[in-house]
Amino acid sequence: MIPQRPLLLLFVSTLASFTTCFGSFKEDLAVTNNKYMPHYVKQPESFGLISRFNRAIPLSVSSKMVSVDDYGAKGDGGDDAKAFEEAWNKACSERVDLVVPKYRTYHLKPIIFYGPCHSNFVLKIYGTIKASINISDYEKDRRHWLLFKNLTNFRVEGGGIINGNGRKWWENSCKINKTLPCKHPPTAVTFSECNNLRVKNLRIQNPQQMHLSFGNCVNVKVSNLIITAPGDSPNTDGIHVTGTQNIQIKKCVIGTGDDCISIKSGSTNVKATDIVCGPGHGISIGSLGAGNSEANVSNVLVNRAKLSGTTNGVRIKTWQGGSGYAKDIKFQNIAMQNVTNPIIINQDYCDQEKSCSEQVKAVQVSNVVYKNIGGTSASEVVIKFECSKSFPCKGIWMQNINLVREGNGNVKGSCVNIRYSSRGKISPQCLIEKLTS
Ligand SMILES: *[C@@H]1O[C@H](CO)[C@@H](O)[C@H](O)[C@H]1NC(C)=O
Ligand SMILES: *[C@@H]1O[C@H](CO)[C@@H](O)[C@H](O)[C@H]1NC(C)=O
Ligand SMILES: *[C@@H]1O[C@H](CO)[C@@H](O)[C@H](O)[C@H]1NC(C)=O
Ligand SMILES: *[C@@H]1O[C@H](CO)[C@@H](O)[C@H](O)[C@H]1NC(C)=O
Ligand SMILES: *[C@@H]1O[C@H](CO)[C@@H](O)[C@H](O)[C@H]1NC(C)=O
Repeated sequence: MIPQRPLLLLFVSTLASFTTCFGSFKEDLAVTNNKYMPHYVKQPESFGLISRFNRAIPLSVSSKMVSVDDYGAKGDGGDDAKAFEEAWNKACSERVDLVVPKYRTYHLKPIIFYGPCHSNFVLKIYGTIKASINISDYEKDRRHWLLFKNLTNFRVEGGGIINGNGRKWWENSCKINKTLPCKHPPTAVTFSECNNLRVKNLRIQNPQQMHLSFGNCVNVKVSNLIITAPGDSPNTDGIHVTGTQNIQIKKCVIGTGDDCISIKSGSTNVKATDIVCGPGHGISIGSLGAGNSEANVSNVLVNRAKLSGTTNGVRIKTWQGGSGYAKDIKFQNIAMQNVTNPIIINQDYCDQEKSCSEQVKAVQVSNVVYKNIGGTSASEVVIKFECSKSFPCKGIWMQNINLVREGNGNVKGSCVNIRYSSRGKISPQCLIEKLTS
């Protein structure tokens, strides 16, 4: 038996390390708890970390850089996409970096930043980039606003703001207005087919749909991002990872209307460390296997996360009828605060109008570790494993789990079609309700 004390110490040190990591983010932590975050939008200069970065930046642009202003970007409310495109082409081909100056707000229609470019190309966003709200601007490609494609050894940084101006899209979402047809709005920032990519020190906010997506990338490092949209904005996932190998996500503060981090099919070696999440739907693997598809996710580590007021904590969600696997997954050192489903595996995930029919096939969930997870839950069932009858969850390991009810009330665990092993204190215990085979 592991005594309880180390667990407590661990939580204290986890929280202490949050304070260190996010020392300069203090206001964000307060802000992320606010459902609509109005002062976040109004006080962009109040972010310690970012102002520090801004101060370190020379105002004049050195000869190794080009500015979008050199290509006619005005930041006067008109569209600056053409200037950005020309500046990009110049910087991409001529071994210089590209700068988006501070103190200005540039409006952009959807734009594709194509590679390949010269190696070690840096895009420095010091100012603000804001999306066009004219929906007919998105006719050619409704799925992307800023799309970075086929880049190798590329960095984006600078402490600036990328604002998807998403309100109009949210109002026209079928999730908000049920009389409207379901169409996918654009993702604010997408990196597609990139290799050796760094994205750091940026704020991404109010996206049309998802904030930031990595698709079919290899070797990605993401750090110090502040990602925010209102808790009721539809499908505004924070960081979406799909078909991507070797990605590290560090020190990000994410408050949104959907998953803070979502990890989808084809992703392997995904590490998320020091994540603050809330509001939002938590940190999710999946959904996987929609429309009877095959989906594989493996080698995921979520280490040191704080989730507050989210609908889920750490979640694996798969649709019935899919195939493939979600395996070798570790969730550890996680602090929950008033989270509705702190620990959840849901193999009956069904995010559509019609109810989903029962199917035999399922994405196999195996080798999942839950270690040092504590805090408070907003609901009674704090551990919820709803696994498939035909493909029960296997190799599930729990160690040092201590979840209580926010305020007062009972808690319980519910385990359906799962086998698990445990060590240390597991509170509450998970009652095995059904286990076939
Ligand atoms: C992507 O970049 C590589 C070089 O890095 C190039 O060979 C390839 O043609 C590019 N692919 C596309 C679709 O542009
Ligand atoms: C929206 O964009 C379309 C073409 O992209 C243009 O014809 C129209 O005038 C724009 N509407 C507004 C309100 O700017
Ligand atoms: C929902 O959309 C319909 C069709 O565009 C519109 O008439 C209605 O006013 C919208 N409802 C709300 C609450 O926005
Ligand atoms: C999933 O993994 C299996 C076994 O490694 C492989 O055969 C299959 O092609 C993979 N499917 C996808 C969609 O990646
Ligand atoms: C906890 O979460 C529930 C449901 O989201 C909410 O109704 C309640 O006010 C929250 N309690 C606290 C103390 O934040």
